[in-house]
Amino acid sequence: MKATEHPEQAAQTQLDNRLAKAKPVKLGWSPEETEEITQALNDLLANYSIHYQKLRNYHWNVKGADFFDLHEQFEQQYTEALRNIDDVAERIRIFGKTPLSTLKEYLEAAEIKETGSQLSSELMVRELLSDYRILLQYMFNVVEVAVRHSDSGTEEMVKVFINQLEKHHWMLSSFMSK
Ligand SMILES: [Fe+2]
Repeated sequence: MKATEHPEQAAQTQLDNRLAKAKPVKLGWSPEETEEITQALNDLLANYSIHYQKLRNYHWNVKGADFFDLHEQFEQQYTEALRNIDDVAERIRIFGKTPLSTLKEYLEAAEIKETGSQLSSELMVRELLSDYRILLQYMFNVVEVAVRHSDSGTEEMVKVFINQLEKHHWMLSSFMSK
């Protein structure tokens, strides 16, 4: 160290001039890769959002001998869905893209369809089992795209959702075979 060089005069940033001036610093994915990952996430987001509202619908409107079990179960599931939806949307923002954010966009983009409110409890459960199968296909697609682009963050996030949904599928299938 030269006599004039004090520690506080050392470089204040690890970035060279070019990187320090280039704002914002991007994540490491190309525009095409980013588009593919966030498109897969948006497809999942739209379907998950319709499914979430169906859970609330069924929580409010379920009737009959199964009321207490299903009313409670649907609340647990929509609480979980709400957290997962938030994570998916924020993951899209992490990539600098815009998540689908309006109900109109969700209804247009989603494969999962809304139903009315006057369903039997058995039909509500059948609807949800069908939703899980659709959601799982979109989740598998996200994982496939994420793995192909070495996007471990997205991969790990969605794999947790897959385990949760498969468990719901088991539980409601068992409920149906009582
Ligand atoms: Fe409630």
